[in-house]
Amino acid sequence: MALLLGSLCILSLLSIAVAYCPMGFAILGSKCYYVSKNAVTWQEAERICRSKDSQMLVFNDDQERMLVRNYLKTLAIPLQCWYSGVWTAINELDKKEFLVHPLNTSIPYPIWAPGQPDKPEQQCVSTCELTTDGMIYHDYECDAKYSVVCQTDSIYRVGPPKNSMQMAGQLCFQLNNFFYCTMMQQSCQGGNC
Ligand SMILES: *[C@@H]1O[C@H](CO)[C@@H](O)[C@H](O)[C@H]1NC(C)=O
Repeated sequence: MALLLGSLCILSLLSIAVAYCPMGFAILGSKCYYVSKNAVTWQEAERICRSKDSQMLVFNDDQERMLVRNYLKTLAIPLQCWYSGVWTAINELDKKEFLVHPLNTSIPYPIWAPGQPDKPEQQCVSTCELTTDGMIYHDYECDAKYSVVCQTDSIYRVGPPKNSMQMAGQLCFQLNNFFYCTMMQQSCQGGNC
């Protein structure tokens, strides 16, 4: 009985704790993402993300790669390699190898396209979609122009949002043959969570 009551308490706590994202960010999985279709240089993209207290995109695993890819598709962000895509946090500016900005950590999920990285003058990394491999990384000149994706952790809190937050929007995704919600505990039906 005590165990049952304990579980009920946890359930009711879960049901009132809500995930929030900063204004302008959408929730996907456990993170919040901001997307701008405008194509800008890597430095400008970095400045945009920093001004929003967030980091540039970097994929941690395959699930995040798929979620972000599908989200960008729903926003009609051009992703086809090689002349479109979005910047990532990865570069080798003043470094001997490609590392994740700003902490210079190693790339968590290195999904380089075949033959990449290649040219030494290409010091920033963009992600785009190949028909055969899905979203991949490739190095490119930092003053090339790609769209911007910023990311930050979502904030779980009980009660109303602070001024700078909004309730994280729910999105219904199709992944392979399955539909599911960006909030993993909810189900997706008829395009709605
Ligand atoms: C990352 O590397 C760059 C280039 O070497 C350096 O300027 C920067 O201070 C490093 N950042 C950290 C957090 O160590």
